Amino acid sequence: MKTITGGREIIPICADLVRQGEVVGFPTETVYGLGADALNESAVKKIYEAKGRPSDNPLIVHVPNVEEARKAAEVGELAEKLFSVFSPGPLTIVLPKKKEIPYSVTAGLDTVGIRIPSHPVAREFLTACGTPIAAPSANLSKRVSPTTCEAVLDDMNGRVPAVIDGGACSVGIESTVLSIVDEPVILRPGGITEEMLKPYLPAVKLFTGHVKVAPSPGMKYTHYAPIVPCILYSSVRGAETEYLRRKGMGENVVLLSKERNVPYWEEKGYTYLKIGTDAAFANEIFRMLRYCEKIYDAILVEAPDGGGIEDSVMDRLIRSSHGVIV
Ligand code: TXA
Ligand code: MG
Repeated sequence: MKTITGGREIIPICADLVRQGEVVGFPTETVYGLGADALNESAVKKIYEAKGRPSDNPLIVHVPNVEEARKAAEVGELAEKLFSVFSPGPLTIVLPKKKEIPYSVTAGLDTVGIRIPSHPVAREFLTACGTPIAAPSANLSKRVSPTTCEAVLDDMNGRVPAVIDGGACSVGIESTVLSIVDEPVILRPGGITEEMLKPYLPAVKLFTGHVKVAPSPGMKYTHYAPIVPCILYSSVRGAETEYLRRKGMGENVVLLSKERNVPYWEEKGYTYLKIGTDAAFANEIFRMLRYCEKIYDAILVEAPDGGGIEDSVMDRLIRSSHGVIV
């Protein structure tokens, strides 16, 4: 299969492909998605095949507005309020599903994650399709999520018929997955932070339970892993250089360093790339991991300070590094 790419001019072609039951790559403000008609079970199956994803991990359903959301899920008063404040944008709300949404989308759950993306190309694509779109991130299962069209093609070239190029994603990490089925709980931290949700949901908590019984199945899988070893270091004290020495690394290694620690690496003669803070960190981290894995044999990432969106980035980095922190 040859994968075609193009800008918004290929949206009508892609909407036709979706109506024929195909899977199409498309940009959102968080990361690129792999979309198919959520009401077509065989199309949904193709998403799992293209990604190599286990079928017990549910997909998020994307719609252009709340009116369409109401056709897929029970949108109560609280969900209405949250959508009115945070959507369109990087928030997915888990709600009781309506019978129209097949269990193949929700991996057998009676709930469905609903997201209204803000990216103009995503919105135009959803409107052109005229059907709810089930879409996971457009990476192969376990790999780093793609934030550019090129990154989607690295994983999906020849596996899907088309990818719409909408440029680099502005948020750069996935949406926050919030369940309000019972007590409000953040199942996956993301573009909308706990602090931002608190005024509307004072009781909201970040899910911290054991991953084997995670209410969000995706959390139990290794995720976001570059193809070379990725190690997180928590502070610049020499432990990271000791780690490199012990592992016999150090030749072709890159350090993703905060600006303030750059002089330290310069003095030691290491190869480094600067990483920003807050939204800039979130925006560039997946792109940098995908860039570095092509060039270097190992990647060391300086841990974010935490707070706000840096907590969401930390969640991804812990998974990227399989929990190895030096
Ligand atoms: O930003 C995003 O959310 C991107 C873009 C494309 O919209 N999508 C995305 O999808 O990240 P995916 O499939 O890579 O991650 C969806 C996460 C998984 O961890 C999954 O387990 C969880 O959302 N999820 C989906 N439906 C759920 C449900 N009904 N209950 C609990 N967790 C759910
Ligand atoms: Mg994903």
